[in-house]
Amino acid sequence: MPVDSMSGWKRSHDCGSLRVDDEGREAVLMGWVNGRRDLGNLIFIDLRDRGGITQVVFDPRVDEQSHERAHVLRHEWVIAVKGKVARREEGQENPNLPTGGVELRATELKVLNRSDTPPFQVDGAVDASEALRLKYRYLEMRRPRVFNVLHRRHQIASRIRQYLNREGFIEVETPFLTKSTPEGARDYLVPSRVNRGLFYALPQSPQLFKQLLMIAGFDRYYQIVRCFRDEDLRADRQPEFTQVDLEMAFVDEEAVMGVFEGMMQDLFHSILEIDISLPIQRLTYQEAMDRFGTDRPDIRFAMEFQDVTDIAARSDFRVFRDAVERGGVVKALVVERGASSFSRKGLDELAKVVTDSGGKGLLWVKVTQEGWQSSLSKFFSDENRGALNEKVGAGPEDLVLLVADRPQVVNEALGALRMEIARRLALIPEDRHAFVWVTRFPLLEYNEEEGGLEAVHHPFTSPVEQDIDLLDTRPEEVRARSYDLVLNGTEIGGGSIRIHDPALQQKMFHILGITPEEARRKFGFLLEALKYGAPPHGGMALGFDRLVAIMTGVKSIREVIAFPKTTSATCPLTDAPSEVDEAQLKELGLKRFSR
Ligand code: AMO
Repeated sequence: MPVDSMSGWKRSHDCGSLRVDDEGREAVLMGWVNGRRDLGNLIFIDLRDRGGITQVVFDPRVDEQSHERAHVLRHEWVIAVKGKVARREEGQENPNLPTGGVELRATELKVLNRSDTPPFQVDGAVDASEALRLKYRYLEMRRPRVFNVLHRRHQIASRIRQYLNREGFIEVETPFLTKSTPEGARDYLVPSRVNRGLFYALPQSPQLFKQLLMIAGFDRYYQIVRCFRDEDLRADRQPEFTQVDLEMAFVDEEAVMGVFEGMMQDLFHSILEIDISLPIQRLTYQEAMDRFGTDRPDIRFAMEFQDVTDIAARSDFRVFRDAVERGGVVKALVVERGASSFSRKGLDELAKVVTDSGGKGLLWVKVTQEGWQSSLSKFFSDENRGALNEKVGAGPEDLVLLVADRPQVVNEALGALRMEIARRLALIPEDRHAFVWVTRFPLLEYNEEEGGLEAVHHPFTSPVEQDIDLLDTRPEEVRARSYDLVLNGTEIGGGSIRIHDPALQQKMFHILGITPEEARRKFGFLLEALKYGAPPHGGMALGFDRLVAIMTGVKSIREVIAFPKTTSATCPLTDAPSEVDEAQLKELGLKRFSR
């Protein structure tokens, strides 16, 4: 059967718009066959387009020819139907569809295209593996759920643009074929044909260009921009992802954070009808670590750590006393009403969480009406037990968990424990959104593997002024003028006030073990630019995919990206990355690498 031309026909409605009020109207719908029921005398087709689904009825009493042709229609064929809108018979309405009160009684049918049987059911009744869905992503994208998420993404992006435009920011595009911008990942390299043997790097972020825009006097820049990072992938990491990237001149931390706070308030209000009260809570990095054991705390629930070092030091328990003598700490976490939530086996599993994250072990106390139920009981005096209960606010039925070690080890172990318990006891209110700023990260950290200092954020971040003197003596204690925005335990953005003094920038490179020659080669253009009147400046970038994933309630950022990569950085749809011709390699001056 040849397919029909749509010439002369014009779509009158989309498949989601007809209502009972339209009864009696002529309509022309175009879309895909989502489902069909052929009852012989009557054929029902669910017709789908991005607007929704409308039921179409082919009835020989209305039009014999189109009824006859409709027998051959199959899933995902593309058709155009002309007909009259009718109210469905009583009892036949579908309350689950916005169009469920009506149907289109077909008077004419055009088959615009046929379809092979799809590799999985588009209506989602039976699901396929992710690999298959990604291979045929365009079919999966016909599902309303997928469309709705990507539509939301579009709305969020356009709302962000509106907000930033209003605030006086201008969008400037920066190059993709450029030089390496260090953001802690490996670069994707692109060989140059014209300059054989030389390579561009795809930007890990527009960091250096946005700083140049500040030097250029642009004052307020933004860009919704793709970034490329060759790193190990996870549910919230893709090799190419999108940032809302921003930079401002003549500002301090407050000004940059203020712009993002306003943006979040505007977005959550307009898109989700959720009111966020400002200012967003702030924690310094040190406070976040001390209280939650992580630099991206999920504060939708409490369960903060309590320091009980002084009380534990007064006990006869060797492990506690030794830890304290060595300068360590003892900290506790209280699981309210948790005494009966964990069996022996459950507690052993919690202990494993502690050892897996570097702690030596876990001690626990079940508080009862009669006192402590714990292997620690005999090491604590009555008075000391009372003091500990009081300090951590534990009463009958509560479970107190204790870890002793160096502060960093204790914090990280309790941090992992806190999240594990929250998951097991379903303590996280999934419908809440909790923002928190984490500020003043350490500027530098020691990299054991490489045996040198490296930037925690990136090498262009300014140290806190009062700490600059420590750069030469105790560099690891220097705090950065940096800030991360955390939402529900996910880092959704980060930024800093930058170094605008060329001498200090050069010094930073030196501290990071970058030789003057290497600094010139890699960042010479920035060092040069800083010499020509660089204004004080700072900025931030938001992980747009992560934000959209949280705002649409999906688990992985793959779901908010139209054509995502798998966790092994491949694209099942296009088969990228793939081999190239010998001739192409030759042109680029490259040799084939046998795999
Ligand atoms: P940073 O490296 O912290 O900062 O990146 C900013 C935000 O981008 C998101 N993000 C990612 N999202 C998905 N996949 C990835 N592979 C990925 N990597 C990062 C995170 C992160 O918070 N130039 C600086 C910003 C600045 O200083 O202004 C930068 O890129 O949500």
